Amino acid sequence: MWSNTETMNIDGKALSLQLKEEMRSSLSLLEKEYGRKPCLVVIIVGENPASQSYVRGKIKAAAFVGIDSRLIELSATITQDELLHQISLLNEDEGVDGILVQLPLPQHIDELKVIDAIAHEKDVDGFHPLNTANLWLGKDCVFPCTPKGIMCMLQRSGITLDGKVAVVVGRSNIVGKPIAKMLLDANATVIMAHSHTADLSSITRQADVLVVAIGKEKFITADMVKDGAVVVDVGINRNAEGKLCGDVDFDAVSPKASYITPVPGGVGPMTITMLLQNTIECFVARKKRS
Ligand code: GUN
Repeated sequence: MWSNTETMNIDGKALSLQLKEEMRSSLSLLEKEYGRKPCLVVIIVGENPASQSYVRGKIKAAAFVGIDSRLIELSATITQDELLHQISLLNEDEGVDGILVQLPLPQHIDELKVIDAIAHEKDVDGFHPLNTANLWLGKDCVFPCTPKGIMCMLQRSGITLDGKVAVVVGRSNIVGKPIAKMLLDANATVIMAHSHTADLSSITRQADVLVVAIGKEKFITADMVKDGAVVVDVGINRNAEGKLCGDVDFDAVSPKASYITPVPGGVGPMTITMLLQNTIECFVARKKRS
């Protein structure tokens, strides 16, 4: 069997720390220039433990770099109209630069309506339809955090994309679709695969860069990966023992890959770091306009 002894783990945790330290020093200058720190508001509805843990991570990371944050915890029984009203107050609040509504929302609330209600210039998730449209049109936009984090990891690892075949497995609005567009913009030849793709292995084996966001533990096995491929694992799953694991069978795939992102410690920390970067960018953009 071909074995690559040179496989590099792309350490998202270490890169995140480096980026957060860079942000922390740039923020002290920005605070002097604009008279205050950026402010991020995070809304959580209900008591989903995974969401609560993600939200705590976001608030903690914001504090680390010097971004003010506010956590609004709402009951799972809140009506859609009440939530939309909260968002409209935050849209009008001059002191708020970023608004994030943690997903998923309870069944009785229409997520698309909620995302649509956030002022696009405060949409630090990059999920608003105007940001999505601008991404696809190649105009200025807020980039969604996970794809932005992936592109940053690839770039900082010195991985070039021009002319490469990139296969994206998964077609979500949050990851699959936007990362495909961003890889396309980097001149990769992009193939999108998903749950209905026929003969998936023959597609994934073409990938110079394989991005997997399907949400199934060990979905990508060694036989599905080309020797020397760059493998980016976006999955966050819990295995039978309750341990965090990705969508890629890491131990089996890693020897074949040239670069691979681990779970945990790969894409996850970068997503939060890009949220902080988006908050700072939204703050600066609004301050420059006012
Ligand atoms: N739930 C899981 N990931 C995300 C994310 O990136 N943003 C929001 N708002 N909710 C999420």
